[in-house]
Amino acid sequence: MAISFKDKTKIGYSTIPDKEVFDIDDIYGAKHYRRLKTVVRKTQGAWLYTQDGRKILDCLAAYSAANAGHHHPKIVAAMIKALQENYASVISNVVYTDVLALFLKRVATLVPQLGPRFGNNGNKVLPKNGGVESVETAIKLARYFGWKEKGIPDGKQEIIVYENNFHGRMITIISFSTNPKYKEGFGPLTPGFKIARYGNLDDTEKLINQNTCAILVEPMQGEGGMYQPPKGFLKGLRELADKHNLLLLFDEIQVGMGRTGKTFCFQHENVVPDAVILGKAIAGGMVPVSVMVANRSLMDMAFSAGSDGSTFGGYPLAAVAGLAALDLMEEEKLVERSAATGKILKKKIMDIAARSSHVKEVRGEGLFIGVEVKNGDAMVFCEKLLKIDMLCNDSHHHTIRISPPLIINDDEVEYIAEHLEKVLVD
Ligand SMILES: Cc1ncc(COP(=O)(O)O)c(C=O)c1O
Repeated sequence: MAISFKDKTKIGYSTIPDKEVFDIDDIYGAKHYRRLKTVVRKTQGAWLYTQDGRKILDCLAAYSAANAGHHHPKIVAAMIKALQENYASVISNVVYTDVLALFLKRVATLVPQLGPRFGNNGNKVLPKNGGVESVETAIKLARYFGWKEKGIPDGKQEIIVYENNFHGRMITIISFSTNPKYKEGFGPLTPGFKIARYGNLDDTEKLINQNTCAILVEPMQGEGGMYQPPKGFLKGLRELADKHNLLLLFDEIQVGMGRTGKTFCFQHENVVPDAVILGKAIAGGMVPVSVMVANRSLMDMAFSAGSDGSTFGGYPLAAVAGLAALDLMEEEKLVERSAATGKILKKKIMDIAARSSHVKEVRGEGLFIGVEVKNGDAMVFCEKLLKIDMLCNDSHHHTIRISPPLIINDDEVEYIAEHLEKVLVD
């Protein structure tokens, strides 16, 4: 699907050749990612463009960050307006801004009433930048609740988490990862976490003791292999949390904002947590924004002036992008499109799987679809897909992650199916 450009030498920021980009990045950049040998120069909608005229369908969408597609014109227009009219730059958090206030209200009212046992009094939002920061914020909320409300001695609070979890890469978060690669050599690690098997309620209950203050879980696991928990798991967690007076914290950084065909993944089971963590797509993939949203009483119980903060968290440009992204999620019915397109695409992939000797299982909801391969090495297939202009990556080595922008159209769905057929059916 190569396209031709009038001037192949100038696409995007510079004209330096790909070889030079590889060299510069290798010399000056930390090697914390194993990058595929492709330089993306420009992005639009669901497509990535290279200097030599290739047009690659983005089926990764930056791990669910680019749900609205790249450079969505409405988000771009809102950001350009903010820059040109001088209300975009970072402003000291000692003063109010109208854009942040409006963004906070928009997010707080988009999320259903959280933690109703603490009062039907609405939600509050604490904004940060990268997703991992908001996971830490939720951990702070839970620990403070354990200390202040449950009388757990400070320093003894425990949170139950799950095998194969992925909540980010900072020290506290990797401390409870079950992937040795994430934490080897980075000690001392943060104590206070107990690990249960994902989807296992008995395991969870056994780990609850007088120091437990919360359960932190992904309603569907993304990095851990694209797993949906068994039906009833989230409901069971809600019951355990209520019975033992624990906070239930859902990390929806990857699976929220329409990705699985519901605005929030927890709506598949009609369960509400006490706090939810959102990120990635919340600002249309244009600016790093994440939030921890909690029941109003819980948020006010845990955070007072000086107990948290972030220079850029919720700064005007981020709030503007966030408001535009939330508007267009509604206007362009991205949630409904994810559900409908996901159904069609999953059916096509199941048909391919039935004819393939390589596929072990197809799973997922909406446009969050995992294809587990029998040889356990999904990257082999992702590399073949990239050669024919479709970008995917592996999840937990064994699963090809198909998570394109939610705006993909029928032709793009067909493109994905045709390309998967080429690499999965011999
Ligand atoms: C479920 C989940 N939580 C947290 C994170 C961390 O987000 P960030 O990379 O923005 O810090 C991710 C990132 O992929 C994620 O998938």
